[in-house]
Amino acid sequence: MPSLAIIGAQWGDEGKGKITDYLDEKADLIVRFQGGNNAGHTIIVDDKVFKLHGLPSGVVRPGKLAVIGNGVVVNLEELGDEINQVLENGGSIDGLRISDRAHLIMNYHKKLDGAEEKYRGKNVVGTTKKGIGPAYQDKIARIGFRAGDLLEEDLLKDKISFVIPYKKDLLNMMEAEPCSCTNESLLEKMLGWKERIGDCICDTSVLINDALDDGKNVIFEGAQGAMLDIDHGTYPYVTSSATCGGGVCTGSGIAPNRLDKVIGVVKAYTTRVGEGPFVSELSGEEELALQKKGGEFGVTTGRGRRCGWLDLVVLEHAKRMCGFTSLCITKIDVLNDIPELPVCVAYEIDGEEVKHFPASISKLNRAKPVYETMKGWKGWDDTEALIKGGYDNLPGEMREYIEFTEKYLKVPADLISVGPDRDETIDRKGDWWN
Ligand code: GDP
Ligand code: IMO
Ligand code: MG
Repeated sequence: MPSLAIIGAQWGDEGKGKITDYLDEKADLIVRFQGGNNAGHTIIVDDKVFKLHGLPSGVVRPGKLAVIGNGVVVNLEELGDEINQVLENGGSIDGLRISDRAHLIMNYHKKLDGAEEKYRGKNVVGTTKKGIGPAYQDKIARIGFRAGDLLEEDLLKDKISFVIPYKKDLLNMMEAEPCSCTNESLLEKMLGWKERIGDCICDTSVLINDALDDGKNVIFEGAQGAMLDIDHGTYPYVTSSATCGGGVCTGSGIAPNRLDKVIGVVKAYTTRVGEGPFVSELSGEEELALQKKGGEFGVTTGRGRRCGWLDLVVLEHAKRMCGFTSLCITKIDVLNDIPELPVCVAYEIDGEEVKHFPASISKLNRAKPVYETMKGWKGWDDTEALIKGGYDNLPGEMREYIEFTEKYLKVPADLISVGPDRDETIDRKGDWWN
């Protein structure tokens, strides 16, 4: 039962989409287990660029099952647009499967997301305004719509009759944009969704477990990153789902002992979109230069990503929460020609050196990074030749940078990504499926 999870080790945008696509050549199923279309995963194959939000990266390669697990929140309206994009680019959704237990993001969730942000005032989270938080709130409050509800018209009618008046009152109370739908128009809309994707809805836990029993290869594709986890991230500056190792199991309906490998995707520096503490953050011209060099602009919202140096305190926390068995270091090419590379190895908080990522936001706001400075590298003219040369022929200082991280975390960096394209990857392991 070979299975591997791909999880972001920082605050998202580490390159999970690229690496999922690289590894899914030999996978049979690619499963999203949490989050929704707040994600923005970029896949570049030759000249084609796919920007996926709600769809698993498996849709890019024909013949795979691309599964939206029960832990995901799905916006079926926006998924329709995304499906069109994939079809126009020669991809296929024949293999798309959606869990009957996955919750739906409704229009009022998006409106409430915006309204909640307004109420937070100076404590704004900086959400993607995709309705993710409000959709998960309804799941926990037991008033969410699930994909499977679309297949049961009577149940759908009944739910609409009590949820919609409640949501209308709530929008009104929060002075949010009102919901123009009637119970009847919403029912009609939802039955339209059923027409389009009803055949994809099934018990995906059974599908995944059967595939594992049959010895098929399964990839679990994380969204966001460990530091945005609802429990273990920089709360309240987090997303509303379980992004770490445990989320793979609850979000896809597999038991923990079915997971073989966990790849932590680590950007060679650190970025974050939205508000919240970021100890190794750069400022001014230095931050802008790294942002420009790395093309650090959000795929979902277009916002500039905040940038800083690699933070090993963050990565140690992520490793503990996710159980990384391998690291995949991405975007290391962006650090070319920088003479010195500080790496954060501890925080100084109120005069004390701290090695474990604290829960307290105020402590994090007072934390100063303790850096070890590594030497940078030069001479990166021919990426193709470097990839051919393999790991041992990478510049020595680059290998030292990678090996410093490996030693600190005691996890091998089995994949090194040196460019956005599928092929711009150095694979030190080769066979991921044994
Ligand atoms: P995800 O959300 O983790 O899938 O990552 P995003 O797609 O949001 O952001 C990663 C960005 O970096 C995308 O534009 C990728 O095309 C790009 N990228 C991925 N890996 C590499 C790499 O190794 N080098 C460079 N230069 N770009 C990369
Ligand atoms: P991928 O999968 C980076 C951030 C938002 C905000 C916080 C909460 O592409 O790595 P939400 O809309 O989820 O309630 O916003 O989480 N965020 C992401 N940041 N990459 C993502 O996804 C993100 N998804 C959400 O910016 O700070
Ligand atoms: Mg992204």
